[in-house]
Amino acid sequence: MTQQAQAAAPTIAVERAGDHVGRVVTIRGWLYNLRESGKLLFPIFRDGTGLIQGVVSEKEFPEAFAALKGLTQESSVIATGQIQPEPRAPGGYEIQVQAAEIVQRVPESNPYPIQLKEHGVDFLLDHRHLWIRTPRQASILRIRAEAIRAARNFMDEQGYTLTDAPIFTPAACEGTTTLFEVNYIDDQKAYLTQSGQLYAEATAAALGKVYTFGPTFRAEKSKTRRHLTEFWMLEPEAAYCQLEDMIRLAEGLVSAMVQAVVQNRARELEALGRDRSKLAKILPPFPRLSYDEAVKILEKAGNPTKWGDDFGGDEETLLSKGFEKPVVVHRYPAVMKAFYMATDPEHPDLALNFDVIAPEGGGEIIGGGERQSNYQTLVRRIREHHLPEEAFQWYLDLRRYGSVPHAGFGLGLERTVAWICGTEHIREVIPFPRMLYRVYP
Ligand code: 4AD
Ligand code: MG
Repeated sequence: MTQQAQAAAPTIAVERAGDHVGRVVTIRGWLYNLRESGKLLFPIFRDGTGLIQGVVSEKEFPEAFAALKGLTQESSVIATGQIQPEPRAPGGYEIQVQAAEIVQRVPESNPYPIQLKEHGVDFLLDHRHLWIRTPRQASILRIRAEAIRAARNFMDEQGYTLTDAPIFTPAACEGTTTLFEVNYIDDQKAYLTQSGQLYAEATAAALGKVYTFGPTFRAEKSKTRRHLTEFWMLEPEAAYCQLEDMIRLAEGLVSAMVQAVVQNRARELEALGRDRSKLAKILPPFPRLSYDEAVKILEKAGNPTKWGDDFGGDEETLLSKGFEKPVVVHRYPAVMKAFYMATDPEHPDLALNFDVIAPEGGGEIIGGGERQSNYQTLVRRIREHHLPEEAFQWYLDLRRYGSVPHAGFGLGLERTVAWICGTEHIREVIPFPRMLYRVYP
């Protein structure tokens, strides 16, 4: 092939190969795998959008053959050739390679560490920067991006304005035991935010309906498949809104995220072996249980939970068993909940809160509810929780100046995406997971 002909070939994304059947095109990517069979080579290329098998004939294109023969896994390569349908190949097409340019050859002496075989998870996590190149991980990250896009579109369409919350904060939001302390300037103490909620309450009083979306931090000493120390949360907050409004918003948001992935990421779900028909059923309304009812279900199932206990992962999995959709559990005992929660006027010992628990053992994906809007009560709650009153003066201003009933919730992105993907552990659904004892790479 002449250099001119090569230069004239359009560069395409592998996922669009089907649009170019019969044409000579260029793909730019990496060598995923190579099978050699006498005078034929069968390289598999990946370009980030998908995998495509190549076929190279020594007789017809000796230079391309020589360039690719013996090429090492994950060497970067630019290949030009004709696209043909090939039902037996992954993706359904192949590229009949006419020219190949090696951009960087991975040396034989120091081969790519991740082979096409099973590795232990610690090894993979140590090589997370390379692990994300495998098709399964790339599919998960695309689904994550789709879920984020859908979530933001949904919130925007509902009339909510994105107002980002700070990451350095002067005080706790979700209990002092999981706070990350930071040495701020001149030895002043600051904390990494556990939730954007308190700031969303301020922006809601300014703009009406708002949401924050960003990283949040918990110094969780719990090593479970559902805990990260750094995770992303989407937090709507709305003035003049009540518990029921927020439950409906949560149902709509979760459904919009799931349906967007079902529609737009079918290929990725298939790569993960995820049953789309189960996800297609995730539409509002969701079943509901009061905390009281949930405790009774757990007792019946032989679980030791008693009224007044919080639910852990096992309890959530048990509760989700009876439902195909996420289940909303509402009105938990107020004593075990955060200082900012409003209580039910008819049952002052219950909080006006709700959690959404994903099916198939996905665990709690949302927590939220109505906020305490009364100044006196809020001050009392801050004292009861031994929180530093000084650091909350700005927050108390929201109750001094035009306090209104308001409500919101936080959706944990990784928990939601892990459930959608059907992954066992949430560490796979964030590009670089931060967990107990892991901040590398
Ligand atoms: O239930 P949480 O702690 O609620 C709040 O932070 C509220 N301030 C939110 C609000 O009302 N604006 O956290 C909300 C969600 C959980 O339901 C869970 O999905 C996720 O955040 N989450 C975690 N995800 C991963 N790792 C952790 N350590 C998590 N902790 C909470
Ligand atoms: Mg919670």
